[in-house]
Amino acid sequence: MQELLNIIRKRKSARIPFDSERPVTKEDLRQILEAGRWAPTAHNMQNFEIIIVDDKEVLGAIGGIKSTISETFIRENYQQLSFSEEELLRKKVGILSTMFPRAWRTPGYKPDKDTDSRRPIQTSPVMLIVVYDPGRRAPASEGDFLGIVSLGCVMENIWLMANSLGISFHVVSAIGTDPIEKKIKSILNIPDHLKIPFAFRLGYPVSPPAKYSRVRRDIGDFTHHNRFGNRYKDWGPAL
Ligand SMILES: Cc1cc2nc3c(=O)[nH]c(=O)nc-3n(C[C@H](O)[C@H](O)[C@H](O)COP(=O)(O)O)c2cc1C
Repeated sequence: MQELLNIIRKRKSARIPFDSERPVTKEDLRQILEAGRWAPTAHNMQNFEIIIVDDKEVLGAIGGIKSTISETFIRENYQQLSFSEEELLRKKVGILSTMFPRAWRTPGYKPDKDTDSRRPIQTSPVMLIVVYDPGRRAPASEGDFLGIVSLGCVMENIWLMANSLGISFHVVSAIGTDPIEKKIKSILNIPDHLKIPFAFRLGYPVSPPAKYSRVRRDIGDFTHHNRFGNRYKDWGPAL
């Protein structure tokens, strides 16, 4: 049990370049996909397809796509940022502002399609592009909420397995946004009616990643006892 908890706690995002000369082995990839295969999905729909991209030319085409940051992202990201380590440790949720380019953490910044609001999509020696069919929803699930949650379960299983094999992992959700999704679909020959919720970068960092604070609320901060608002605080010493 402790081993599982340690794997879960050590899972983390690697928003850094990966070594293009060090691929993920097929055996490791097989284990990662095996973990994904056994993820729980609503109604056991297994509502995902995964495109494994390791062809340099295809990766080059994906890396050639520039993503433009949206005003919505700038505004909503700003509202959730912490501007100092102390603020982050106090809030216990969110991300430190220094994770983003300066312009992106400036309220009222108007993204310009010719400046640093345009960035190439980061690639890696192997990328996993997740695809699902929004027309095949979990029964009676409005907006296919349950189907989308299921994709999150697949993500977590894959992420935990990758990290436990010593492989770094980065979610790239920009890939599922317009107009990038359209370009990726064209490169990968993905049928029009399918959607890309996110992609994963897998690999080994070129250099040791910079340390960053990973914060979480305490159990007592999100639990309620028998009635909402009745805080369940007494959880004893940290595990
Ligand atoms: C559904 C989902 C989408 C995410 N999209 C991105 C993304 O586009 N880029 C990114 O760098 N991290 C992305 N993340 C990673 C989160 O930002 C990260 O898990 C969170 O900040 C906690 O940090 P940790 O993974 O190091 O524990 C995503 C995570 C989830 C679950």
